Amino acid sequence: MSVPVLVAVAWPYASGSRHLGHLAGAYLPADVFARHQRLVGNEVLMVSGSDVHGTPITVRADAEGVTPTDIVDRFHNEFVRQWETVGISWDLYTTTGTANHAEVTQDMFLRQLENGHIDKRISEQFFDPQAERFLPDRYIEGTCPHCQYREARGDQCDSCGRTLDAVELVEPKSKITGATPVLRETEHFYFRYSDFGDQLAEFLGAKKGWRPHVLNFAKGWLEEGLLDRAITRDLDWGIELPVDDLGEGKRIYVWYDAVIGYLSASKEWSTATGDPERWKHWWHNDESRHVYFIGKDNIPFHCLFWPAQLMGYGELHLPDDVPANQYITFKGGKASASRGVGLTIDEGLDAFQPDGLRYALAASFPEQADTDISLEEIARRINEELVATWGNLVNRVLSMVHKNFGAQPDTTDRRGEDETLLAAVDEFLVVANRQLEAVELRAALRTAMDGAQAVNAYLNATEPWKVVKDDPVRAGVILGTALDAINGVRVAFAPFLPFSSELLDGVLGPVSAWSRVAVPAGTPIAAPSPLFVKVDLEALLAER
Ligand code: MF3
Ligand code: ZN
Repeated sequence: MSVPVLVAVAWPYASGSRHLGHLAGAYLPADVFARHQRLVGNEVLMVSGSDVHGTPITVRADAEGVTPTDIVDRFHNEFVRQWETVGISWDLYTTTGTANHAEVTQDMFLRQLENGHIDKRISEQFFDPQAERFLPDRYIEGTCPHCQYREARGDQCDSCGRTLDAVELVEPKSKITGATPVLRETEHFYFRYSDFGDQLAEFLGAKKGWRPHVLNFAKGWLEEGLLDRAITRDLDWGIELPVDDLGEGKRIYVWYDAVIGYLSASKEWSTATGDPERWKHWWHNDESRHVYFIGKDNIPFHCLFWPAQLMGYGELHLPDDVPANQYITFKGGKASASRGVGLTIDEGLDAFQPDGLRYALAASFPEQADTDISLEEIARRINEELVATWGNLVNRVLSMVHKNFGAQPDTTDRRGEDETLLAAVDEFLVVANRQLEAVELRAALRTAMDGAQAVNAYLNATEPWKVVKDDPVRAGVILGTALDAINGVRVAFAPFLPFSSELLDGVLGPVSAWSRVAVPAGTPIAAPSPLFVKVDLEALLAER
């Protein structure tokens, strides 16, 4: 039975280049998962877009003396180009700057207001007396009250990952003038997250099979007690309020609107397909499965705040799994584009072939713990694992078949060892399928590699290059069996390595289901060109 699967992927701020940690933390895992889900025949809707609101955008625009729109356009275009190059198979990649997204956000706000989950409150917020303006979120920096990191921002500490309220910061400073801010009263709308404590406890309590670090973090946060949070800001960049009772200069808070992107993008996609109601198949459907791919700093927003927003609206499908990743570190340091630690996505794509990069990152997906990578490690994995085990195997078998037979040989007279190999490959596909379903992507990649190794071991045991001299018929059976096995192992690699997988389409036919397809005898096999190029690490290091 075909299941509607929403693959919901974190919306990157269009405020700066993203690095390989982001790619490995959210986009690539989502893509691998989505490609597998399509191959097993599910109805995948994979959406995301650039997060164009909030102070990450305006702080950068202020610093560069350009408009927020300039910043957003620059990085949105960069992201779109990178997704294409690295092969992220979106059904829709949009932005939160569309009229559709504003409408969907305002509709949600109004319904929750009507339902009594949004109210107005007066609070004290930081104000810059020199610049004469309020200082929401990232306009404030100071020392984190939890970990003492000195450059924590008004919304979040990048060191310990805690979500902050600016007024908690020790020694706060204005990002605009450096002045010490003063507190001043301002009126805002609040979402009453505290209305949903019991429902959220029930929601999380029922979750089975979630990554322990995700579930523990979310439950721990909930047990500390959910606070109501302001969902508007003193800013002139963001979605306008659908009610005018706060006066000028107020906008909806970026984190309230960004998560709504999953729903608004689903609607935008539906309209584009010519069937505006189609999104309901994913969102008004108990049988659908919604899986959210995010980094661990986004856990509270996706496991608590977004579900509460959905509950406050009603009728919409809640998250089924949030397989958040931990962090990628680069030689021990947390990646940060602004601090120059780690590689940006462009740097990664300049250095490596897309499939090589995808392989090395997938082998290091930080699923359970922070995981360290480096240029050297990526190069080693490509050369010593991907090329040595898989690339060379494919090349070797295609070359031998081509040279000796020119076409897939007849394999009617298989022996036990041949059948054993094919049965093993089929079993690897069963195992990889189970792992991919459970979003254990690293393990699934290892299973694919085990498949490649099994074919290599079979060739070493059967030595077709020797057999061919005396018994070409038997050599044909061996090589034909190896090629059939490769055609099965290729399926397990397909979600990870879309480009090299496609290179074989012309010879072996497209991968279109999660099963091994026998290569028909007589299929012409031309001289192959290698699937991958080896990385020249010395040259790479010299360039940098
Ligand atoms: N823009 C946020 C970040 O980069 C992520 C937003 S995810 C969303 O951390 F779904 F809420 F949009
Ligand atoms: Zn901290």
